[in-house]
Amino acid sequence: MKRTSSLITEAFIRLRSTSPIRSAAASPFKVDPATRKSVFFLAGRSMDSAVRAPESGGSGVKTPHQKIELLQDFLKEGPGGWEKTWEAGNTPWDLGEATPIVVHLSETGSLPKGRALVPGCGSGYDVVAMACPDRHVVGLDLSKTSIERSKKMFSSMPNSKYFSFLAEDFFTWKPPEQFDLIFDYTFLTAFPPEMRPSWAKRVEQLLKPGGELITLMFPLDDRDGGPPYSISVSDYKKILIPLGFEVASIEDNKLAVRPRKGVEKLGRWKKPFFVQSTL
Ligand SMILES: C[S@@+](CC[C@H](N)C(=O)[O-])C[C@H]1O[C@@H](n2cnc3c(N)ncnc32)[C@H](O)[C@@H]1O
Repeated sequence: MKRTSSLITEAFIRLRSTSPIRSAAASPFKVDPATRKSVFFLAGRSMDSAVRAPESGGSGVKTPHQKIELLQDFLKEGPGGWEKTWEAGNTPWDLGEATPIVVHLSETGSLPKGRALVPGCGSGYDVVAMACPDRHVVGLDLSKTSIERSKKMFSSMPNSKYFSFLAEDFFTWKPPEQFDLIFDYTFLTAFPPEMRPSWAKRVEQLLKPGGELITLMFPLDDRDGGPPYSISVSDYKKILIPLGFEVASIEDNKLAVRPRKGVEKLGRWKKPFFVQSTL
């Protein structure tokens, strides 16, 4: 009998080649060679877009810089800007596939079992990649457009009963139970630095005692502006350690996609069973 992970991999491949969404304007799968080239040029200074959805809004194909500027313009209006950028199909962060390190951790049985949460899940590839009979994954995103799109895109995956997508605000949502695992990728860094302590507090509230937080920390360079806003490992420690989190491991992400190599680390953090807050 085939393992769930190989069935998921095969389904991802089928989805790439057959999905009607693929041919739609907002396809998450199309690789634009021109964009890829300029992304390598830009890597380290702005959000990359190695495999990118051509935007459905506006006219013509935008350069990575234009996409980021458009996102920044939307976000000047506040959190409602996320919905607008999704409506416009302007998602310059989107890899268009599951994050390789997530697939690796999932396939090698290196992720906690139980209930997992991916806040700010975006397209939701990582939600699907982590879901299996031993792990139910909730993909949460503020944008209704993004959540509807993910539901449609992944409804026929072989593991579809092991994940769900919810349109909710991470900062106010009240789940029925806490989680064994929270996975964050370009979610914390989507917010201005002054919001980081609120993110940490929320993660602490949502995680079970003994639970694990996995942070794929990007971008760890000195780029200006955001999102994503650049961050350092010590910025994570500054907000997590006072809440009782312990570092399990921090290492370079050797499977980072090319434009993110060298500016991305994988952090694994444990919430102890008994937390002694030093706040
Ligand atoms: C930079 S994107 C990252 C998406 C995804 N993690 C990825 O790596 O492709 C940030 C995502 O967070 C979502 N978001 C922003 N604020 C949020 C909030 N308060 N609650 C839940 N999702 C939010 C946005 O709609 C967007 O999809």
